[in-house]
Amino acid sequence: MSIDHAAQSVPDPDDRRSNPSTSTPFRDLLNARVSRRALVRGGTVVAATGFLAVADSAPLARTLGVPAAGASGRSLLGFAPVAANADDAVTLPAGYRADVIIPWGTPIRSTGPAWRPDGTNSAAEQAEQVGMQHDGMHFFPRGPGPAGNRRGLLVVNHEYTDRTLLHADGDAVMTREKSDKTLAALGVTVLEIAQRDGAWRPVDSPFNRRINGTTRMTYSGPVSPRHPALRAVGLPRGTLNNCSHGVTPWGTYLACEENFNIYFGTADPAWTPGPEHDRYGISRTGLDYRLHLADPRFDLARNPNEPNRFGWVVEIDPFRPDSTPVKRTALGRFKHEGATVTESRGHLVVYSGDDQDGEYIYKYVSAAPWAAMRARGRSPLDEGTLYVARFDDDGTGRWLPLRFGHGPLTPAQGWTDQADVLLRTRRAADALGATPLDRPEWISVHPEKSAVYASLSNGSGWAHAVTPRTPNPYGHIIRWRESGDDNTATTFEWDVFVLGGDPAYDDRVRLDDDGIFGSPDGLWFDPDGRLWIQTDVSNYVLNSPGWGYDRIGNNAMLACDPGTGEIRRFLVGPRGCEITGITVTPDRRTMFVNVQHPGELTPAWGSPTPENPRAVSNWPDFDPAGRPRSATLVIRKEDGGIIGT
Ligand code: FEO
Ligand code: CA
Ligand code: CA
Repeated sequence: MSIDHAAQSVPDPDDRRSNPSTSTPFRDLLNARVSRRALVRGGTVVAATGFLAVADSAPLARTLGVPAAGASGRSLLGFAPVAANADDAVTLPAGYRADVIIPWGTPIRSTGPAWRPDGTNSAAEQAEQVGMQHDGMHFFPRGPGPAGNRRGLLVVNHEYTDRTLLHADGDAVMTREKSDKTLAALGVTVLEIAQRDGAWRPVDSPFNRRINGTTRMTYSGPVSPRHPALRAVGLPRGTLNNCSHGVTPWGTYLACEENFNIYFGTADPAWTPGPEHDRYGISRTGLDYRLHLADPRFDLARNPNEPNRFGWVVEIDPFRPDSTPVKRTALGRFKHEGATVTESRGHLVVYSGDDQDGEYIYKYVSAAPWAAMRARGRSPLDEGTLYVARFDDDGTGRWLPLRFGHGPLTPAQGWTDQADVLLRTRRAADALGATPLDRPEWISVHPEKSAVYASLSNGSGWAHAVTPRTPNPYGHIIRWRESGDDNTATTFEWDVFVLGGDPAYDDRVRLDDDGIFGSPDGLWFDPDGRLWIQTDVSNYVLNSPGWGYDRIGNNAMLACDPGTGEIRRFLVGPRGCEITGITVTPDRRTMFVNVQHPGELTPAWGSPTPENPRAVSNWPDFDPAGRPRSATLVIRKEDGGIIGT
């Protein structure tokens, strides 16, 4: 998603007006604001100009224990880099191909309503079609062994809706049909797909299912479904703004609710947000979706507790199509980017970023080994400790427990119980002194070591060593190693792995033209230890020299060998899109990647309108009477090899 993020975190447009759109003023602006702090790491003071470099990753690898190269000693990157470009196409390295499957509007059953390229599908039809704005996803193989490489359930999040493209006539006039279609296009798609005659396609399956903004939900953990704060008009329904995700060891999918605030609003001029709603950005206008004009459920004055039902991690069992999704409240309420699951000493550990400028990184640890909890009929996601991260400038860090009665979270300070702490997670984390970050996005754990990597997409810079660039229009990737290589530990060591950006604008960036990138978002280690980096440069700055983004091209996916620090561009997306979501078949010879919001409003190219939705892009159909749509890429190597090798 780029529109609200742009409003949240790219440099203020006023800065742009005072610094006309030429590259030199931007460079000067950036450098003038750079805080050249020193970073103390492992007892060594490293000059800021040194620790930013990818070339320095070998010493960093020693600090954090990441292998210096693949097991063979060779680079993990076996493909020729793709040049940055601004084409309305998907570009891949020589020897690779990408097919497009399940674009927005694909019926989830062969007998379902056909996609209409003019946007006239009804809300009821949208509820039987793949949603809009594909994001995090996972491939659950069907069956053990080789069969699972050719057939499985693809579970895909749908982050938000593009209102110009969703409706035939835009949304200048809001109707109940349009608000219903918006809710129908959000949520999650579960779709069985199979490879037949060399091509992957959706198949009719009892598992095919849409979970959207109206699906019945339940709650579990310390915030009970009967909690007064969840009491609102009607039964709890729906999941909203599902960005990234997680996968549990018992085979369920965790859909995360990110910018849930944007859908709420009210026309009541007397309504003002209290401090709790304000802390989550809930306002009278939201992001101008205006659902409240047609659906009182989203009217803050009439249904003030409805936003409390969102901001959670939602557990979905894709193999039980009749199951009710469960919002697991023990993981806290914030703008969850994702929920990265790992195990340590048998405990379940879940990392999650709160994606907004100045927000935090969290970690959840189950109360006991997860298998034993499940054997007793208890969910490891319901009983455990939620922590928030403090990154100290000396390169160490601490996980601070959000535990009622602990530290400042006491009745004397206005906290009533653990449910209260979780409903107001952000305020509890404020009270503990967590470290504000530049938009925490995806988090991934190295497959062999406990080193954990997190993308910080872009932001203001927060006067901490872990946010070393102020402002930070390009973002960076940080990493930490938990004490004792134990992901349940409460202390860690951290460093800045790589600064995004273009050295033409910022001489601290050590990326070459094959690796320049900005606004890292998706981040995923494959089992070889190859780190895949996906970008979500805001459309407001995409391809813009005024923001130092003209040489970086369209949003892209890059691969990194964390041992050598080398980063190579693997894929460039079409115009106006972000690249997000990544999953593979067990044999890793098929990779699925999402192209989200192709053709979205991008000042560099234009503004789509109901009359001309193709102003920026017409990918993937290139139908002269159609409109651009999010879709999943099926990436394969022409020689049948493992992707990335
Ligand atoms: Fe939805 Fe934070 O990307
Ligand atoms: Ca994003
Ligand atoms: Ca994202």
